[in-house]
Amino acid sequence: MQTVAQRGRLLRELLPQTHAIGEICCGDCAAQWQQYRQVLPGVQYTGLDIHPAIVAANRARGIPCVQGDALDGEAIRPFLACDILFFGPPLSVDCDGHTLLDFHAVTPGFAPFARLLLADLHYQGTLVCIAPRGTNLGDARQLYEQIRSWRDDVGLHLIHYSYATITGDGQATEPRLKYVELWFSSQLDDSWRVYHDGLAAHEA
Ligand SMILES: C[S@@+](CC[C@H](N)C(=O)[O-])C[C@H]1O[C@@H](n2cnc3c(N)ncnc32)[C@H](O)[C@@H]1O
Repeated sequence: MQTVAQRGRLLRELLPQTHAIGEICCGDCAAQWQQYRQVLPGVQYTGLDIHPAIVAANRARGIPCVQGDALDGEAIRPFLACDILFFGPPLSVDCDGHTLLDFHAVTPGFAPFARLLLADLHYQGTLVCIAPRGTNLGDARQLYEQIRSWRDDVGLHLIHYSYATITGDGQATEPRLKYVELWFSSQLDDSWRVYHDGLAAHEA
């Protein structure tokens, strides 16, 4: 999957010393699990999802995965040891990619999760919020300001516009924006880098 490969490349570039990765609201995370272990051999990966059947399917493939609610502090506490946490809640109604949600309509929400992780649990590391493609700079700034009101050591390092040029059934297409990832971190600087990823392959 192109967008997962992009995340993997950024991970290796920005945080090459990563030992442990967590993915909250992981869904079927086989692609992520394979990609991250490929770019960072030996890295540990653990997913968390609320649906027992999804957790069981991941485990059946040998992927470490636990069942829990992203907004439950006791479920999230074990993930504080991770260098980076990907937070990928459902971005469309029924998770089917058809009826996309507005940034503020996503549940579990970005602000409640960031508050739990950064304010209540005082996480040290990098939180990647995987947000809908309609996310704008106002949304990013509002979340940033909320986070800064709780933690002045956490900045927004990167806004990653992640494009795909291959459809789900393998057909080439014009670049389509799939996600806007907000990389908040207490380890990386507060530089608001903006990166459009996936366009060059189409132009080449
Ligand atoms: C869009 S899918 C996962 C996508 C994946 N993170 C990615 O970036 O490709 C969202 C997942 O969130 C899970 N989910 C929904 N609400 C949740 C909650 N409160 N806590 C944990 N997982 C949740 C759903 O079961 C679903 O598997």
